[in-house]
Amino acid sequence: MLIEDFKLERYFAKYEFTAKYLLSSSDCDGYSLDYILSLATPDEQKLWNNLRFGYTESSGSDFLREEISMQYSTISADKINVMSPGEANFILMNILLNSGDEVICQRPSYQSLYQVAVSLGADFKFWDCRSDNKFYIQDLEKIISSKTKLLILNFPHNPTGFVPTNAELKQIIELATNYNIFIFSDEMYRRLIHDEKDEIPSVCDLYENSASLWGMSKSFGLAGLRIGWVCTHRKDLLDKIASFKDYLSICNNAAGEVLSFIALRHWRDFITPNKSKINRNKEIFKKFVAKYVDLFEYYEPKGGSTVLVRQNTGMSSYELAEKIVNEIGIMLVPSEMFDYGEQHLRIGLGRENFPEALKIFDDYLSEKFL
Ligand SMILES: Cc1ncc(COP(=O)(O)O)c(C=O)c1O
Repeated sequence: MLIEDFKLERYFAKYEFTAKYLLSSSDCDGYSLDYILSLATPDEQKLWNNLRFGYTESSGSDFLREEISMQYSTISADKINVMSPGEANFILMNILLNSGDEVICQRPSYQSLYQVAVSLGADFKFWDCRSDNKFYIQDLEKIISSKTKLLILNFPHNPTGFVPTNAELKQIIELATNYNIFIFSDEMYRRLIHDEKDEIPSVCDLYENSASLWGMSKSFGLAGLRIGWVCTHRKDLLDKIASFKDYLSICNNAAGEVLSFIALRHWRDFITPNKSKINRNKEIFKKFVAKYVDLFEYYEPKGGSTVLVRQNTGMSSYELAEKIVNEIGIMLVPSEMFDYGEQHLRIGLGRENFPEALKIFDDYLSEKFL
């Protein structure tokens, strides 16, 4: 398969481990092994101490899938396959799509959500966010039809942080039901909802003809474990996923499975601090943009760990990001990495040193632009 470069990941490969500050990451700071083990009960600790590094069960170890199922209301362990998040996306596109199939995906989006399908020859229609960074159901209604085979969703959304209301999510599912469309719901930022009243359920708990993806990388702050999972009621898909995976990872890393199990058992101890950090940083960012009303256009999101701001510096976002990383060592993600014009920057809210990095950016901007 010929596939275009994953622009965002290539950009991270260039700067993630060389820039002094990361002001655009979508993951929250990684928790330490000590932190995970400090939460473990004696039995969980024993599981870790007695861990052996043979192959693991292909669809994910029973104990892990049982624990994952607790996060859903209709999903039992046999409806789950555990794999790395990117692998899940790659496999699902491959088993769901044929050349010429019509697919709807949000725009902007994490590139692998559409690029794999583009390489498979799918015909794309994009559900664009409007200038206020929101996705409107009326816009989806205009492009969805009985020709649509797959609807790809990502809520909370990377990069805008958009989260639909419960009523809007139901409307989307009603549309998919009416046209008999399968939904692939990328929920990598699940539970990172800034205010609990805006919480939404997983799509797989609302709609049988769907698959939902979640994992340890974003909400849990455990990206280095490389553990994610797909939940679906469709037994035929689970069989196909299992067969396809035999050509990729085959099974998961044993240490990642045990540590994910422990983290899931204590999920609030991972997610709640991340939400507090995101909310704190969001407030700081709000004050920052208020200082630069001529330079930035900002709409406050309800979820996720990123925001998307429109910049009006007179430079393209790519030029600006390159200048900033080279002059003051702060990595920003320009919207060119999302195939989304040249005017936006993604800002990541999940890092402890956000105030420090933003202060340096602030000093730089006030010197050059105020
Ligand atoms: C929407 C979305 N889906 C999937 C992924 C992939 O997660 P991971 O990097 O842990 O494979 C990401 C990572 O940024 C993402 O933002």
